[in-house]
Amino acid sequence: MNSTISTDSSISVAANWLVVLLSDSQPLTSPILDLDSAASGTISSLFETEQFSGKALETLVLPRCAGVTAKNVVLAGLGEVQACSVRKLRHSLLAALRLCCCKANQTVAVVVEDSVVNLLGPVTVAEVFADAVEVAATDTDIYKSKRARSGFASATLCLPQASDDALAALSRGSITGQSCVIVKDLVNRTANDIYPETFADEASKLAKQFGLEVTVLDEKQLEAERMGALLAVAQGSSRPARMVKLAWNGAGKEGEQIALVGKGVTFDTGGYSIKPSDSMISMKSDMAGAATALAAIVAAARLKLPVNVSAYLGLAENMISGNAYRLGDVLTARNGTTIEIHNTDAEGRLVLADVLTYAVDEGAQKIIDLATLTGACVVALGDEVTGMFPNNEQMAAELTTAATSVGEYVWPMPMHEHFEPLLKSSVADCKNVGPRWGGAITAAKFLQKFVADTKWVHLDIAGPSWTDSSKAWCDAGATADPLRTLVEWLQIQSNNTSV
Ligand code: BES
Ligand code: MN
Ligand code: ZN
Repeated sequence: MNSTISTDSSISVAANWLVVLLSDSQPLTSPILDLDSAASGTISSLFETEQFSGKALETLVLPRCAGVTAKNVVLAGLGEVQACSVRKLRHSLLAALRLCCCKANQTVAVVVEDSVVNLLGPVTVAEVFADAVEVAATDTDIYKSKRARSGFASATLCLPQASDDALAALSRGSITGQSCVIVKDLVNRTANDIYPETFADEASKLAKQFGLEVTVLDEKQLEAERMGALLAVAQGSSRPARMVKLAWNGAGKEGEQIALVGKGVTFDTGGYSIKPSDSMISMKSDMAGAATALAAIVAAARLKLPVNVSAYLGLAENMISGNAYRLGDVLTARNGTTIEIHNTDAEGRLVLADVLTYAVDEGAQKIIDLATLTGACVVALGDEVTGMFPNNEQMAAELTTAATSVGEYVWPMPMHEHFEPLLKSSVADCKNVGPRWGGAITAAKFLQKFVADTKWVHLDIAGPSWTDSSKAWCDAGATADPLRTLVEWLQIQSNNTSV
């Protein structure tokens, strides 16, 4: 989509919609003050009569606003100026934009209070704007005959100045936003539609479209690789497993090798340790890690980042049948580690185990894995925070920086060695689950066995990748969180190599 910056006054911008983002502070300040004067004090009188207060996420549609060229005005609150953040700006912008794309071919302009532009910087505002313009129109009506929203015909950000940096931020934001849409659509599609083979097809299509190398390993090749853990998870399903590798080599032969490893369980029934219906209902989303890794490498290619990054997607469906794996089974992972199964619902770590050793053997020097791995992580951190489990402090610090600058939440979790013996088995090298307490950490400790001493961070995204309830800024369903953090982290890596 076509996002632009205009230095013209928002009073005279021709558009179906003018979104006005403003704080709760009174009296009004530039450029909202001028807009208010042009509209004969409409905005200030709404504040006076307490019909609008400017609190975060508040929206008010004003159809026809005399003195303003745009057909409709949407006031959108940002709360207190000093408390405004990238996250708040994105959420308020999305809340407003979602009101403006209920009809096809709409044009939209956005103006933001100067104090907020000054606080966050015009470059950040431009990036968040272009990203939100892409994401706003996503809905969850994939299977309905009529969709709730459709993409904008054009989107204009009114800024006092249009620098080259702000223009570059627009195109970065559009690319990141479009990658968010890739994640959301893949995760929201159902498990009878997206299963290992069709997920691999979608990945291959994107690879062709954006110039990535792609390799798909089918079940024969996975057997040849001795991926006994991944294959055990898949063996209960009539849908065979796949592993997809995508590569973007933007840094040349000498560059560092980065791997993104994604859990792609296209449906998780729990297997014989079956989930109750209430927990199973959303398990089409158990491939969010793979979808996020895929969309991140697409963004890296489109941004032409000078980094070498590969995405490895472990794709399997965890089902029940006469062929399914059982409790007590002992599996042999690709690296020879034997695993006693104490719970068939702890399947994600089995899928990842084999894919992680594959990435290590291919020469990965830094690995980030993404997985909707444990309910325990959601209990610990709630449903908007990614759990971060590092074996390397520098990567953890960089990811924290990246998350902060894009307005997503990641939080470090302990990886002390006393968790290690909790995975001891009396019959095999280890078992696949520990005790109830610290379940997200023992899951991470299990994964650690398969990365050797490669620099690595495990991200448990079971909470933030999905929302059960609709929000002003997002339908219930996939969120694409923490895709932006990953893209930002890859950008940090490219800055590291270019200095
Ligand atoms: N896919 C689930 C984790 C999950 C839970 C994701 C809630 C999203 C929302 C994972 O495969 C799982 O079932 N984990 C088990 C692990 C347990 C058996 C040790 C869990 O969290 O209960
Ligand atoms: Mn499970
Ligand atoms: Zn799972």
